[in-house]
Amino acid sequence: MRLRYVKGGLERLAENEKVVTKPDEYKGKWSKLFDNDRSIHVEFGSGRGGFITGMAKKNPDVNYLAFERNSKVIIRGINKLLENPGSNFYLVHSDIRKIEDIFLENEIDRVYLNFSDPWPKKRHDKRRLTYRSFLKLYERLMIPKGELHFKTDNIGLFDFSIDELKENGWNITMITRDLHNSSHAEGNVMTEYEEKFSKRGQAINKLIAVSPKK
Ligand SMILES: C[S@@+](CC[C@H](N)C(=O)[O-])C[C@H]1O[C@@H](n2cnc3c(N)ncnc32)[C@H](O)[C@@H]1O
Repeated sequence: MRLRYVKGGLERLAENEKVVTKPDEYKGKWSKLFDNDRSIHVEFGSGRGGFITGMAKKNPDVNYLAFERNSKVIIRGINKLLENPGSNFYLVHSDIRKIEDIFLENEIDRVYLNFSDPWPKKRHDKRRLTYRSFLKLYERLMIPKGELHFKTDNIGLFDFSIDELKENGWNITMITRDLHNSSHAEGNVMTEYEEKFSKRGQAINKLIAVSPKK
C-alpha cells in the first residue's frame, strides 16, 4: 500500500503501511505480521522511529516494533520511515499502558527504553517507564531472562531506574555513565535525542538488565 496524503493526522497514519494503528488486533499474532518466527524487540516511547529503523537495517534477522503515543511525533518522522523499505520493523501508534491488550505473555524478546521522559517531580515517579509497575509488565510480556536496554542523559532517572531494577530482582549485566567514551560505544545506534544531547557534550548513560523471570 502506498502512502496517500490525507488531511487528518490519524488517517494519515492509518494509510501508512509501516504504522500499526490497531495493535490489539495482533495480540498473539505479531509473528504473522512479520511472516516469520524471529525474535521481537520492542522500543517503548520511540519518538520519530530513527533508532528502530537504524536497528532494523543493522539486524535484518530481528523483528522490531516501536511504540509512540503522540501521532504528531510519528508524522514528523514518516517520510524517513518510508525511506527504509525493510520488512522487519513497524511503528505502533499506542500508549505503552495498553501493552497487556497488545501482547501475550512471552511474546516480546527484548525491550528498549531510550531517553524516556524523566518526570523529575517525586510525585510523578509512577509515570516513569522504569517504575516498578512498568517493570512488572515488561517481565510478564517478555520471555524468561529477557533483556531491558535503557539509555538516558538524565542522571536522576538513571539512578532511580537502577534502584527500581535492583529492588525488583532484575540483574544489571552492563552499565556505563559515558556510553560514547566506553568500550560499549561500538555498534551503538543513536536516537534523535541522543544525537541532540551528545552534540551538547552531555554524557549518555546506558544499562542492560535481565528479567528475573525463570
Ligand atoms: C523524550 S522522547 C524520546 C524519543 C526517542 N526515544 C529518542 O530517544 O529520540 C520520549 C517519547 O516517549 C513518548 N512516550 C512517553 N510516554 C509514552 C507512553 N506511555 N506510551 C507511548 N509513548 C510514550 C513521548 O511521546 C515521546 O515521544
